[in-house]
Amino acid sequence: MKKLYIETLGCQMNKSDSERISGILSHFGYIETQNEKDADFYIINTCSIRQLSADKAYSQLGVWGKLKKSRPEIKIAICGCVAQQDKAKIRKRAPYVDLIFGTHNIYELPQLIKRVNNGEKVCAITSNPVIHDQNDYKISRKNSVNAWIPIIEGCNNFCTYCIVPFTRGRERSRLPEEIIREAKNIVNEGYKEITLLGQNVDSYGKDLKNDNITLANLLRELNKIEGNFRIRFVTSYPSDITDDLINAVDECDKVCKYFHIPMQSGNSRILKEMNRRYTKEEYYEIVSKIRKRFPDSAITSDFIAGFPSETEEEFQDTLKAIEELGLDYSNTAAYSPRKYTKAAKMTDKFIDEETKYKRLERLNEKNREECLKSNEKFVGKILNVLVEGKTEKDGSIILNSRAGNNKIVHFTDDKKNIGDFANVKITKAQTWCLYGEPV
Ligand code: SAH
Ligand code: SF4
Ligand code: F3S
Repeated sequence: MKKLYIETLGCQMNKSDSERISGILSHFGYIETQNEKDADFYIINTCSIRQLSADKAYSQLGVWGKLKKSRPEIKIAICGCVAQQDKAKIRKRAPYVDLIFGTHNIYELPQLIKRVNNGEKVCAITSNPVIHDQNDYKISRKNSVNAWIPIIEGCNNFCTYCIVPFTRGRERSRLPEEIIREAKNIVNEGYKEITLLGQNVDSYGKDLKNDNITLANLLRELNKIEGNFRIRFVTSYPSDITDDLINAVDECDKVCKYFHIPMQSGNSRILKEMNRRYTKEEYYEIVSKIRKRFPDSAITSDFIAGFPSETEEEFQDTLKAIEELGLDYSNTAAYSPRKYTKAAKMTDKFIDEETKYKRLERLNEKNREECLKSNEKFVGKILNVLVEGKTEKDGSIILNSRAGNNKIVHFTDDKKNIGDFANVKITKAQTWCLYGEPV
């Protein structure tokens, strides 16, 4: 057996890809190790959403490059979004890399690895993805409770700041029967939660040109699978949340009442500049529909501070939106110019770094306030949670769990273990988590 070490940066799609990469390689004599010091094959699965994440890829390669000087027999590979985008640059900056493969080339790994082991330097980057039957290979899932299923990859939206359409290509949906088969296997293997993944998960099926293939109908089919498990889906594009999807979430008892719907900005002019296909008012409408139907649901979002040309007043609209909508949690980031994107060419309208990072700090402050308010709403309520892990504190075992609405809940119960569901009465709220006791 040879030892494989994978470092994964970026979103859940990348993490899911890494599980698939590791699974494929397990058929060819590679076993994954957590020990970075003594592996034979090193892979970094990269993210290029912001410059900082892309830079991390190169610094990791640098570390392994040094290692290769003392152990020339090791092989180094880079894949993911930076690889897809930067192949020529990687060759120049890190000539010691043995294998570069793109986001569409994962299923060619068996052939690629053979060539690498024959001493060849290999670069496999296709821009035209082919759909593979992913069920031929094992998937080395990292988490014993939650399993990811990518259902749609790629993006057609071309938001003006975003690199994803360039690194992941156009939208491709997997066939429902394939997803259902994977889900049934997951449930049989004992997983308690399935998370359906897509850069725009609610666009699922549009490319398959069959009106019956939608995320709503897929949820209905998955909900029929017998067993004690729950279903999530991320990330939703605001204007693709249909009434039928909201109905399906309502009808399906296994589907969590949780929506991650990035708004990006609370100002309609900036949204237009970002090429987002909704206005501030339309986003408010969607949130209000969801809140009305699911009062105990959580709605989370993403925001960018300092998009080119954003004025102080326009930025304040974002702070106002987080507060007025009572968003339960928001990911935040300072705008980072990405090669190939439209916004990166608006250099004369760039916001200076100091203002941008001050805005980010204010965004974070607002997020903290709203998170705490959101958590405080649950004190005294009973939430159904799934135990994901445990830690020891002052001699007693604390269970770390997650409610359907994605809130993190800590509690103590000798009778429960990782993978169990429990009803917990919330007794205390902090900014990032809740505390409770079993009922
Ligand atoms: N498909 C999802 C978002 C996927 S990218 C959607 O459309 O909502 C994840 C998040 O990264 C985005 O929501 C955005 O907030 C952030 N992001 C993307 N490009 C960025 C950039 N150039 N600078 C800063 N943040 C960015
Ligand atoms: Fe990026 Fe926009 Fe596509 Fe989301 S919808 S992945 S932000 S281009
Ligand atoms: Fe990053 Fe690629 Fe995901 S750019 S966020 S790893 S799709």
